[in-house]
Amino acid sequence: MNWHSRQICAPRSRLIFFGTLILASLCAVPTIAQQPLNTLIVAVDHRHSTSLNGDWHYLVDPIGRSLYGPDGAVRDNGYGLNEHPALIGERKGQEYDFSNAPIIKVPGDWNTQDPKLFRYEGVLWYQRDFDFQPKPEMRAFLHIGAANYRSYVWVNQKRICDHEGGFTPFDCEVTAALHSGKNFVVIAVDSTRLVDGIPSLVADWYNYGGLTRDVSLVEVPKAFVDDFDVHLKPVTMDGLAGYVHVDAATEGMPVTIRIPEAGLVDTVKTDANGRADFDIPARNLSLWSPESPRLYKVQIEAGEDRVSDDIGFRDIRVDGTLILLNGKPVFLRGVNAHAEAVGRSGRVNSDKDVETIFGFLKDLHANFVRLCHYPHDERMERMADREGIMVWSEIPIWQHISYDKPNVYVKADAMLHEMIRRDRDKASVILWSVANETPDNSTRTEFLKNLVVEAHRLDSTRLVTAALLQPQSPGDTKILTDPLAQALDVVGVNNYVGWYTYTPPQADNIKFELPQKPIIISEFGAEAKAGNHGPKDQRWTEEFQLDFYRHNFVMLSKIPQIRGFAPWVLVDFRSPTRNIPLLQDGYNRKGLISEDGKNKEAFDFIQEIYKDGSFGKAE
Ligand code: GCU
Repeated sequence: MNWHSRQICAPRSRLIFFGTLILASLCAVPTIAQQPLNTLIVAVDHRHSTSLNGDWHYLVDPIGRSLYGPDGAVRDNGYGLNEHPALIGERKGQEYDFSNAPIIKVPGDWNTQDPKLFRYEGVLWYQRDFDFQPKPEMRAFLHIGAANYRSYVWVNQKRICDHEGGFTPFDCEVTAALHSGKNFVVIAVDSTRLVDGIPSLVADWYNYGGLTRDVSLVEVPKAFVDDFDVHLKPVTMDGLAGYVHVDAATEGMPVTIRIPEAGLVDTVKTDANGRADFDIPARNLSLWSPESPRLYKVQIEAGEDRVSDDIGFRDIRVDGTLILLNGKPVFLRGVNAHAEAVGRSGRVNSDKDVETIFGFLKDLHANFVRLCHYPHDERMERMADREGIMVWSEIPIWQHISYDKPNVYVKADAMLHEMIRRDRDKASVILWSVANETPDNSTRTEFLKNLVVEAHRLDSTRLVTAALLQPQSPGDTKILTDPLAQALDVVGVNNYVGWYTYTPPQADNIKFELPQKPIIISEFGAEAKAGNHGPKDQRWTEEFQLDFYRHNFVMLSKIPQIRGFAPWVLVDFRSPTRNIPLLQDGYNRKGLISEDGKNKEAFDFIQEIYKDGSFGKAE
C-alpha cells in the first residue's frame, strides 16, 4: 500500500467534496502529487545513513528552460543528465557543465550563501558525485530533509522523483539507479512562488530557496519498517498501542517491539498490507511532561530490519475548556518561532542553530513553542522532546491560498500527511495546526474542515487547531464567529489589539467573546527596533512594545477559557514585506529578541510572567 492512497469513508458533504476532488484530479493537469511517488521513512535520523551534506556544485537557471519544456512539463533531457560540453567533434547536449561550476553548501538556503543569490527566486541546479557500493539484499533511498519549494531528482541520469512543499522531508528509492563506484545525483530546486502553491504568492517570511535540510543515502533491507506509531493509550494511560508498517513485507511477517527500560516486548504479525497492530499493557511508565521529559528507547525488529527511536509517552486531550496533559490541566507558556538562524540569518539547519533557539526558550521559562508557519527541521522536535517543550506544528496554509482548486487540496493533504508521518513519534508535539489567519468563507472552511478530519483520522492521539483571525467586530467586545472554530479541538486566536488596531492603553477596555473551547492566543505582538528607546506611546520603541504586552496581558487575563500564550515572535525575522528603512530594513521587528540575539525589554517582562508561572494557572 503506498502511503499516498487511502480509503474514503465520510459524511455526504465530504463525499461530495471528495467526489469533485477525485473527478477534478482525474482530469487535472498532472500535479507534483501525481508525479513519480516519493515516500517518507519514519525515524530516518535513527537509521544508518551516508551523509551527502557538504559541497555541491550549482548552476542557476533564472528562466527554467533547462528544467521545464514549453508545456511546463519537466524535461528529460535537461541538466538532470549531467552531461559535459563536447570540447572536440560535434556539439552534444546543452551548454552547461557542473564539473567547473561554483560550490554551495548543503544543507543551506542559497540566499545567504552568495550575495548574488540573496533575492533569487527560481531554478537552481545542485550536483554532486558520490561513491557507493550496493549491498546484496539491500535497498537504497535518497533522503531529503526539505527542499524549497519544488524539487526534481536525477541519479545517474535516471529521473527518480519530484516533490512539492518546502518544509517536509521525502525519500526516493534509488536502488535500481545506483551502481558500484562513482555515482552522481542532480537535483533541481525551484523556489518560485506559485498562486496554487502552499504558501501562495504572499507570506510574511523570507522565501529561502534550496536544499535547506540534510541530504543522505539510507540503506535498508528489502523488507523494512517505513512507518510506525507507538503511543500511550489515551485516557486510560495503561498501555501502549499502535502499529508498525513493513514495506515489501510478506503477510504474517513477525514484528517485535521491544522497550528494554520498561521491560516491555511484544511480537505481532503483519497483515496483507504489511501492517502489524499491537496493544501492550503497561502500567508503570514514566510519562513525558515538561517537568520530566522522559524518553524511552523503542526497538523494532521486522525480518532483517532493525530500527530504534527515542519516544516519550504522554496523553494530551481536551476536557471542556481545559487542556489536559497526562490527565492534569496544563497552561502553555509559549512563544512563536520562525526557522531562521539567529546571528547568521538563513534557514535553521544545524544542532547549533537549534541550541540557540532553545536557549532563548529556556531563558524565557517557556514550556511551549509554536513552530510557525511550517514544519521545522526535525532537530527542533527532537530537542523539544529532550527539553520538555510542548510544540504546535503547522502546515503553511498562510492567509490566502487557492481554496477552490482541488489540486491545491491534494497538495495540502500531502503536506499534512508528511508533517504527521514525520513527527508522530514526537511526544513534544501536542498540536497539529492546519492553517493561519485564513479568510472566513465557505470554500475555505470546507477545505480546512476536511483537513481537520483527515488530521484526526491520521492521528487520534493529538489535538487539532488553527490560528484564526482576530475578531474584528465593532465596539469593545470582539466576538469570534468563525465557523472553523467548531471543528477545532483547541482554538488559536491571533490578536494585534494595540498594534494594528487601537493603542496599548485602549486594550484595557477590550473584551473577547470566544468559543467555549480551550483558547490559545496564538499571536500577539508589536514592533520595536532593538536599542530604539523613547516614550512608551512612541511606536517602534522598546518601551512601546513593553507597554503593548503590559496592557495585552490585562486584556487577555479576562478570557476565562485562555489556556496558552504565544507572543509574536521570539526573534526578529526577515520578511520581504517589511521595508521601513532604519526601523525594519527587511525585518519584521516584533521579536522579543533582535536578529543578532539582543533581548528587548519585553523579553524580560514576559520572562518574569512565565517564571512566576502563576498567570493562567489552570483552575
Ligand atoms: C500575522 C501573521 C504572521 C505575521 C504577523 C505580523 O498575524 O500570522 O505571519 O508575521 O501577523 O504581522 O507581524
